[in-house]
Amino acid sequence: PIKIIIDTDPGQDDAVAILLALASERLEVLGITAVAGNVPLDLTEKNARKICELARKPGTRVYAGAKSPMQRPLVTAEYVHGKTGLDGPSLPEPDMPLQPLHGVDFIVETLLREPAGEITLCTLGPLTNIGLALQQAPQIADRIKQIVMMGGGFFEGGNVTPAAEFNIYVDPEAARLVFASGIPIVMMPLDVTHKVLTTRARLDRIATIGTPVARAVVELLEFFERYDEHKYGTDGGPLHDPTVIAWLLRPELFSGRYCNVEIETESPLTEGMTVTDWWQVTDRPHNALVIHEVNAEGFFDLLFEHIRKL
Ligand code: BDR
Ligand code: CA
Repeated sequence: PIKIIIDTDPGQDDAVAILLALASERLEVLGITAVAGNVPLDLTEKNARKICELARKPGTRVYAGAKSPMQRPLVTAEYVHGKTGLDGPSLPEPDMPLQPLHGVDFIVETLLREPAGEITLCTLGPLTNIGLALQQAPQIADRIKQIVMMGGGFFEGGNVTPAAEFNIYVDPEAARLVFASGIPIVMMPLDVTHKVLTTRARLDRIATIGTPVARAVVELLEFFERYDEHKYGTDGGPLHDPTVIAWLLRPELFSGRYCNVEIETESPLTEGMTVTDWWQVTDRPHNALVIHEVNAEGFFDLLFEHIRKL
């Protein structure tokens, strides 16, 4: 199996990504590290545990990482995800424990312990934990197989400001460290996540599975899509974070190109922007595989097959 660490700020779409990963026997989830983002850390770590219990995988190790971005105050997104971060279904308070180790220490220790080049980091929230891990132990950079991240946007623009996507906007300094690290990066920007919409027909199909997990997924996504449907008038909202896991399972559903991505951290107008050299107009080195296209039907088939297994 592919060994992964999921770094996340659940979030309804994070929750679906976690379920997808836990459902696959081709992925080995070494641990889940929570970060502050959509809601504060005490909620994101609890939400991660709620989802593991929903998937009936209470043995999954969940760690709490950073409470706030590397250099800035935390910006949250209750206006999208609700007060709990996981509004929609009513999920019980988790029984499974939070691991005592700090999430950043877990990332560092695991990377130093496991053979180099084997671990993929799946990042679904602000990059604070990864930035702190790189700062604490720069030697881990060479040991990470790759980072597959949901973050950024280029032709599509931003969803927090006209220029910036939420995950990068919350902690641009951490994102800058990650993009400068030399670690192979696969980036799922809004340009691709806005192509996988939770339409009524797709949710109805998941509902036919009829299990508690399927019901919870539908309730999570019905809540989540309200914001985007209202704002953009689309049928359904973008299922951002599950694209990260889907890429690991079926990369042939996606396409993109290698290019240079730099992070703006200073301009008040564009801070958190992922400046993407899609047209190769500079000679700056390629540092990311930037995904742009997705087979949306194939993506929802994959999701359906996996939710059915839980
Ligand atoms: C990203 O921000 C969060 O609100 C979602 O969970 C996703 O990771 C989309 O911009
Ligand atoms: Ca997220």
